Amino acid sequence: MSQARTFRIAPSLLSADFARLGEEVRNVIAAGADWIHFDVMDNHYVPNLTFGPMICQALKPHARTAQGQAVPIDVHLMISPVDALAASFAAAGADLISFHPDASGHVHRSVQAIKTQGCQAGLVFNPAEPLDVLDWVIDDIDLILIMSVNPGFGGQSFIDSSLRKVEHARRRIEASGRDIRLEVDGGIKADNIRRVADAGADTFVAGSAIFGQPDYAGVISRMRAALA
Ligand code: DX5
Ligand code: ZN
Repeated sequence: MSQARTFRIAPSLLSADFARLGEEVRNVIAAGADWIHFDVMDNHYVPNLTFGPMICQALKPHARTAQGQAVPIDVHLMISPVDALAASFAAAGADLISFHPDASGHVHRSVQAIKTQGCQAGLVFNPAEPLDVLDWVIDDIDLILIMSVNPGFGGQSFIDSSLRKVEHARRRIEASGRDIRLEVDGGIKADNIRRVADAGADTFVAGSAIFGQPDYAGVISRMRAALA
């Protein structure tokens, strides 16, 4: 297991107040968010429908600390097909773009489509989806995102089998010798984040746990305390 793991907390805007998105981004950054997680749903790959590249572009200027440092926008695509919209998100200011390999007919091509636009590329694995595709593309990606709920909605319960998958993914990253982030998404709260980290994760998406409470900084600091 990597010795110097830097933990990152990525609040998911899915649970933010959509009527005040820019303010929510600024507030959650002031509360200590490391990345902004942006869930894109198409009512086709998943039953829900959220926001597109125009919203990402509108939020980009808000994704900065008070000191002016840019905070990465972590786009999680739950869409099929992938490539055309991935390019639109790159143009809209996304820093990392992840997609579900089962949503793309040509996974390697989709990864390249993201990277040639200057973004970091990630692959997302649903709870029942094997990691096998990593045999062939781990040298090309920057991020692995393990879903600990079925994609489509916030506020679901953490699926425990995802911990074993996080362990498997961590072993694959170590074997690759590459610097790849291992992110987990779904049902993460201050009281289970430590277990997820112990399984090997370094980056934690949390939607309802953060935006469902009035004091974002309080939740994020409880998460960091659990990780310390
Ligand atoms: C679900 C999304 C998640 C969601 C997580 O499809 O990918 O990012 O916002 O929400 P919580 O943290 O509430 O489970
Ligand atoms: Zn997500």
